[in-house]
Amino acid sequence: MSLLETSVGVGDMVLLDPLNEESLLKNLDKRFQHNEIYTYIGNVVISVNPYQKLPIFGPEFIDKYKEYNFYELKPHIYALANEAYQSLRDHDKDQCIIITGESGSGKTEASKLVMSYVAAVCEKGEEVNSVKEQLLQSNPVLEAFGNAKTIRNNNSSRFGKYMDIEFDFKGSPLGGVITNYLLEKSRVVKHVKGERNFHIFYQLLAGADAQLLKALKLEQDGSCYSYLNCEASRVDGMDDAANFRAMKNAMDIIGFSTEEFQHILEVVAMVLKLGNVELGDEFQANGVAGSSINDGKVIKDISDLMGLQSEVLERALCSRTMETKTEKVVTTLNKIQACYARDALAKNIYSRLFNWIVNRINEKIKVSNSAKKKVMGVLDIYGFEILKNNSFEQFVINYCNEKLQQVFIERTMKEEQEEYTKEGIAWDKIDYFDNSIICNLIEHNQQGILAMLDEECLRPGMVTDSTFLAKLNQMFSKHNYYESRVTQNAQHQHDPTLGLNCFRIQHYAGKVMYDVNGFLDKNNDLLFRDLSQALWSSKHPLLRTMFPEGDPKQASLKRPPTAGTQFKNSIATLMKNLYSKNPNYIRCIKPNEHQQRGVFSSDLVGIQARYLGLLENVRVRRAGYAYRQVYSAFLHRYRMLSRSTWPHWHGQSREGVEKLLEELTLDSKELAFGRTKIFIRSPNSLFYLEEQRRIRIHQLAALIQKIYRGWRCRTHYQLMRKSQILISAWFRGNAQKKRYGKIKASTLLIQAFVRGWKARKEYRKYFRSGAALHLSNFIYRCMARKFLLSLKDNLPSQITDNRWPSPPYKAFNLANQELKRIFHHCRCKKYWDQLSPQKKEALKEKLCASELFKGKKASYPGSVPVPFRGDYVKLHEKPKLQTVAEGPVLMAETVNKVNRANGKMTPRILLLTKSHVILVDANGSKVKTVIGLENVAEVSVSSLQNGLFGLHLTEISSVGAKGDFLLVSDHVIELLTKLYQAMLDKMKKQLPITVTEEFTVKFKDGNMTVKVIQSQKGGQGNKISCKKKGSNQLEVLA
Ligand SMILES: Nc1ncnc2c1ncn2[C@@H]1O[C@H](COP(=O)(O)OP(=O)(O)OP(=O)(O)O)[C@@H](O)[C@H]1O
Ligand SMILES: [Mg+2]
Repeated sequence: MSLLETSVGVGDMVLLDPLNEESLLKNLDKRFQHNEIYTYIGNVVISVNPYQKLPIFGPEFIDKYKEYNFYELKPHIYALANEAYQSLRDHDKDQCIIITGESGSGKTEASKLVMSYVAAVCEKGEEVNSVKEQLLQSNPVLEAFGNAKTIRNNNSSRFGKYMDIEFDFKGSPLGGVITNYLLEKSRVVKHVKGERNFHIFYQLLAGADAQLLKALKLEQDGSCYSYLNCEASRVDGMDDAANFRAMKNAMDIIGFSTEEFQHILEVVAMVLKLGNVELGDEFQANGVAGSSINDGKVIKDISDLMGLQSEVLERALCSRTMETKTEKVVTTLNKIQACYARDALAKNIYSRLFNWIVNRINEKIKVSNSAKKKVMGVLDIYGFEILKNNSFEQFVINYCNEKLQQVFIERTMKEEQEEYTKEGIAWDKIDYFDNSIICNLIEHNQQGILAMLDEECLRPGMVTDSTFLAKLNQMFSKHNYYESRVTQNAQHQHDPTLGLNCFRIQHYAGKVMYDVNGFLDKNNDLLFRDLSQALWSSKHPLLRTMFPEGDPKQASLKRPPTAGTQFKNSIATLMKNLYSKNPNYIRCIKPNEHQQRGVFSSDLVGIQARYLGLLENVRVRRAGYAYRQVYSAFLHRYRMLSRSTWPHWHGQSREGVEKLLEELTLDSKELAFGRTKIFIRSPNSLFYLEEQRRIRIHQLAALIQKIYRGWRCRTHYQLMRKSQILISAWFRGNAQKKRYGKIKASTLLIQAFVRGWKARKEYRKYFRSGAALHLSNFIYRCMARKFLLSLKDNLPSQITDNRWPSPPYKAFNLANQELKRIFHHCRCKKYWDQLSPQKKEALKEKLCASELFKGKKASYPGSVPVPFRGDYVKLHEKPKLQTVAEGPVLMAETVNKVNRANGKMTPRILLLTKSHVILVDANGSKVKTVIGLENVAEVSVSSLQNGLFGLHLTEISSVGAKGDFLLVSDHVIELLTKLYQAMLDKMKKQLPITVTEEFTVKFKDGNMTVKVIQSQKGGQGNKISCKKKGSNQLEVLA
C-alpha cells in the first residue's frame, strides 16, 4: 500500500492538517497503536520504539522495500536505508544516516536495521559476505563492552558510535571505520542503584568456565566485586552467558586471535579486581596522612595478571611523583586520593581497552586499497539528556546533540531553500530557530564554556568548580541562553529550582541545569604518571600498549588535551564528515518511561517531539510547499485524472502536468511549477488530488473489471464457440464420413452389380452356352475323376471276386453298374481271349447248357463245375465204336434205355455224332439204332434230379415209326446240350427241350404218358425206377 493510501493516520506528517503539536502527537499515537511505528516528515523517518517484536522486519520485507521507491510503501527504516543505498550506489553520493533520540528510543536497533538492510541488498560473494559479517559482528562486541543496563534502557549504549561503511563502485561493501565517542567510563566505578556496569563484566562471570575464571583469578559470584551492583546483576530477557558466547563468536569472526581474546579478558578481570582493592589510612612519620593497601591478596592477583610486582603497583596507587624540570618529589596520597587514583586507573584501563578494541576492529575491517570509495555513515549517538542531576557528561552529550540539531536544521533548511532556488521557485525565507548561538556558547574557541573550562583546568593557583562557575557567570552574564543564580540575581529574577552550583543553558530542546561539581576533574581526566608508568612497565602485552605515555622516553611534561577539547575536536571532525555527506535522518522516540509495549505517553513524546523539533521540521518542510514531485513521477501517479494524459501522454512530462492540473481547476496559488518538479502548497490540494485519484481509480478499476469481465466472457464464449464448432465439425465430419462410407459401399455395391450385370449381359452367351456346362462338366469330371481314381485303386483283384466299391454319389450309380459290367466283361474277355479253342468250346457248351437248363432243372447246378468230357466210354480203346460213328463223336456214353413194355432199363452206348444219335449195345458190338438228327423232333426232360429224358422223333421218319426213346443218362445236361448244338449246327434249328414232369412218349403201339414223381425216400444220384401204370402210363420215381 502506498504511503498516501495508508489508512492509519497520516504516513507523512507534512500532509497533517491541521498542523499543531496536538494533531502531530495524535497522529503518532494513532499510528503507534496500530503498530505503525514509522512515520515520515518528508524524507525524515520518525521511529517510535514499539518495545515488542513486530512482524515488519526480515528478508521478506527487505526484498519488498528493495523493489520500491521511498514513498511507494509504508514508512520504514528499510525505505530510508534503500533510498540512501541506491543514491549512494547509483548517484555516487556519499550518505550518512543520523540516528538521534533519547536513551532507549531505539537508535541502536535502528542502526542495526540499517546495517542489516544494506548487508542484505548489496551484492553477494564470498569476500563481500565476510566483510558484511565482520561489519555486522562488530555490534555484539561493542555492545558487550560499551553497553550497560540503565534505568531507561536495559541495553543502553554508553558511547557514541559513528560507523563509515565503505563500498566499491558496484555497491559491494569493502569494509568500514568505526569512530567511538566518549565512553561513559565513570560507570566502571560507579553507577546508580538499579543500573549495571558494562555488560562484559557480567557476561564474563556468567559465561566463562571454571578454568577460565581460575586463570583470571575471578569468582563467579558477582557480589564479590564492589564495582558490580549486585542488586541488578540480572536483566530480564538478557542471557549474559549466551551473550558472552555470542561476543566471543563475533570476535572470532572479526578476526581477534585467541590470545587477544584472552588478554582482553585479563584486562577486564584487572579492572574488576581493582574495585576490590581496599585502601586504608596510614600516617607517615612526618604526620602527613598517607594510604596503604589493606588486602595484599587482591593487589597480588592484579599484579600477577598485569605481570607486575605488587609493590610497584601498590606504590603507584598510594603515592605520586611530582616532576619539575629540575627535580622529582614523591608525595604519598591520602586514602581519598588513593581511592581516586585507583578508580581513575580502573576507568582509564577500561576506556583504553574499549578504544583498543574499536581500533582493533577498525584494523580488521578497514579497506586496504585506496581506490575511490563510496561511503555510508551510520551515526548512533546518545540522545539529548535531561537528568535530575546533570554533570559534565550530560553537558558534552547535549552539546553533541546541539551540534547534530545544527546539522539537521542547516541541512534541511539549506536543502529546502536550495531546492526552491534550483527549481526557480519564488521563495520567502522562513525563520527558523538557529541554534548556532547555543553551539557558540559552548564551543567558542575563546569564549565558549569548554574553552573556559580548559582555561580553568590549566590555570595555576586555586582552581575549583566554583571558580569555573564564577567565570562563566561573569562571561555570560548577558547571554540569552545562559543563566545561573548570579545572572538571575543581576536581573532581579529569582528561580528557586536553579541550584547554587549550577548553571542553566537553554538548549534547542529545552533548558538543562548543569551542576558544575566534578567538571574540572572530569575535564582534566588525569591519570597520575606513576600509574601510567607502572602499567607501561607491566609484562602484559595488551596493557602495556595501552599506556604508551608511561614510556619514560616519550614522557613529556606537556599536558594531554582535556576531555572537553578532545570531545569538541572529535565532534568537529564528525560534523565535517556529516556535512560532506547527504544526510538521512531517523529520529527515534521513546513512547513511555517504562519500556512497555502499547503505552504511548503523550507528555513524554511531546517533550521529545519538541526538542527533536518535529513540528518545526514539518513546518519548515511545509513552509513553502508541502509536496513536491518530479514531473514524470507526478504525471505517472495522477495522469488518470485527465482525459488528455490518460492513458498515455506523449509530450513532455511538465506539459502533461500543466494540462492535467489545468483540467482539475486547482487554485493557481496552490501550485508552483519548478524546473523539474511540481510543488503543491497545501496538503489539502494533495488530498484533493489523492481523493480524485482514488475515485478515478475506482472508476478505472470498474472499467478494468468491466473490460476484463467482458474479455473473460468473450474469450470464454469464443472458446466455447470454437469448441462447439470443433465438436460439431467433428460430429458432422464423422456423420458425413459414416454416410459417405455407406454411400461409397452402396455405390460400390451398385457399381459391382451394374458391372456384373453388364458383364453378365456381355458374357451371358458364354455363360449360357457353355460356362455352366463347362463348370458342371468340370466339376463332374473332377468328381468322376476322383471316383474313377478311387475305383481304380479299389478294383477287385480276382475274376471271381464279385465285390465292387459303391459310388460316392448317387449320380454315379448307373455308371458304376455299367463300369462294373464293363469291367466284368473286359475281364471276361481277357479271360476268354487267353483260353484255348477246346476250352472255349467247352465253355460254349456250358453256356448253352446254362441257357437251356438254368433254373429249370434240378441237376443243372451240379453239372456246372464238372467239365463236359464227351467220352465216357474210352473210345480210343474201342475202335469199333469209332467205326460205327463214321466221324467224330461228340458224345459217347452209356445210357439206360427204358423199356416201354415193363419199364426196365437196358444199357446202351449212345454215340452222338454231328449228324446222328447212335445207340449201340452195351458191348459196343452191335448198332441198335441210328437216329438222324433231322428226325429228332423234341426232347422232354423232368425238372427233377434225374437223368431221364424223352427223345421225341418225327413221325415221318423210319426210326420214328418205331417210336420215341425214353433214356436215362448220367450226363443228361451234357448230352442234351451237345445234341442241341449238333442240331443247331447241322440244321440251323433249335431243338425244343421241354422241362416237364409229365410228357407223352409215342410208341408204335400207342402213346404212353410218363409221369415223374419225386421219391419220398430220396433216391441216390440219378437212380430212378419206372413202373408201368396201366397200359399207357409210366410212373418214374426219381
Ligand atoms: N524496532 C524495534 N523493535 C522492537 N524493539 C525495539 C525496537 N527498537 C528498540 N527496541 C527495544 O528498545 C530497547 C532500546 O533500544 P535501543 O538500545 O536501540 O535504544 P537506544 O536509543 O540505542 O538507547 P541508548 O541511547 O540508551 O543506547 C531495545 O533493547 C529493544 O528492546
Ligand atoms: Mg543505543
